[in-house]
Amino acid sequence: MLYSESFIFTTREDPKVAECRSQKLLLRGSFLFMVSSGIYSYLPLGQRVLENVSDIIRKHMNAQGAQELLMSALQPIELWEKTGRDEDLKEVMFKFQDRKNRTLCLGPTHEEEITEIARKCIVSYKQLPRILYQIQVKFRDEPRPRFGLMRSCEFMMKDAYSFDADEKGLNENYEKMRYAYNEILKECGLDYVMVEADPGMMGGSASHEFMVPAPIGEDILFYCESCKRYFKEKGKCPGCKRTLKETRMVEVGHIFQLGTKYSLAQEAFFLDKDGQRKPFIMGCYGIGVSRLIPAIAEQCADSKGFAWPATIAPFDVSLVVLGDNFLKEALALREDFAKQGLKTLVDERDEAAGVKFNDACLIGNPYIVIMGKNYAQSQKVDLEVRKSGDKFSFSREELLNFLKDEYGERAAKPDTVKS
Ligand SMILES: Nc1ncnc2c1ncn2[C@@H]1O[C@H](COP(=O)(O)OP(=O)(O)OP(=O)(O)O)[C@@H](O)[C@H]1O
Ligand SMILES: [Mg+2]
Ligand SMILES: [Zn+2]
Repeated sequence: MLYSESFIFTTREDPKVAECRSQKLLLRGSFLFMVSSGIYSYLPLGQRVLENVSDIIRKHMNAQGAQELLMSALQPIELWEKTGRDEDLKEVMFKFQDRKNRTLCLGPTHEEEITEIARKCIVSYKQLPRILYQIQVKFRDEPRPRFGLMRSCEFMMKDAYSFDADEKGLNENYEKMRYAYNEILKECGLDYVMVEADPGMMGGSASHEFMVPAPIGEDILFYCESCKRYFKEKGKCPGCKRTLKETRMVEVGHIFQLGTKYSLAQEAFFLDKDGQRKPFIMGCYGIGVSRLIPAIAEQCADSKGFAWPATIAPFDVSLVVLGDNFLKEALALREDFAKQGLKTLVDERDEAAGVKFNDACLIGNPYIVIMGKNYAQSQKVDLEVRKSGDKFSFSREELLNFLKDEYGERAAKPDTVKS
């Protein structure tokens, strides 16, 4: 991608509406566009980040044998009357009538709809176990939308649902999802913790929350800095007796064993081995796909902007071209990067070096390569590693080898963006 043709329009001033660092930088870096309070559009940079997060989630869900589907966002209210959640969720549900006077809502979550699908599609134990998931937009009329994508009224969720014939199957699927969640959050480069949670309103037995420490978090845990462990209660660390430090946490994922709560309410049965009608044993597993963006952003931001993990960054390399006549060389280098599966943002704008470098730091691709004014004589480029600030002067060959080592065996995902 050439910067001059891109839809990247960074700003230097802090937007007035921004309530926290991640939101401020996401708006300044033109990742996001604020449509209204709690409502955002993803601009091309933000869309790339969202796609990267989604791809990581897909990879680990598929690896556990979960199958992707896509449910409707529009749902008839009757679906919710069977479980009584039309009442429980009436405050957050966006509800309205269509022209034929049907009452519809915009799905705030999808337990009811998936249970209805299973009720109709799964008739026999031979069709079990199954895990289904989707990455989809959810709508909630939140009382206090805040911190940008952290708590918005329209947001992306990955919601998965497991269906089993017995408790043993549920436990196995629950373990698979717990494993996948750990892999997903690790690959997103997050510092996070898994905590046992109260199954509460969802009914069912086991539940775990995945929490990310960040100042914008709405939950609180207590951290021991020497044992690097989190606790739910204030006080001293049981291990080393140090005083625990209060830490704000963002909930990014939540998994539940639901048991038969939904299948009984919605009469979703299958025929067991012995010909008996039995309710599905269910689990549900949610990740705030869009909420992961500010969570990662809070953890990777510094005074200059973002230093995204390589798995999340919109591009791998920002190639800052300073000489007037090096566009051809820059494009050739971009081709070399593309062969190694690396995506490049080529900044060939007619702007001051400082402006271009600041934008590269704000956007936060992991590697900044500078093709300086003396490139013609030296045949060397400068590389700055965005996160560490480490600087190198490299020939083309050295640079390509360095990046190959950094990215290791990363599957070459050819950069299809040709402009
Ligand atoms: N308004 C929102 N904006 C962005 N992400 C959200 C929002 N509400 C929930 N999520 C994300 O979706 C995931 C699964 O949804 P779930 O219904 O379990 O959330 P929740 O318990 O309502 O979350 P919270 O307590 O933060 O409101 C959450 O773990 C969170 O990451
Ligand atoms: Mg909520
Ligand atoms: Zn300790």
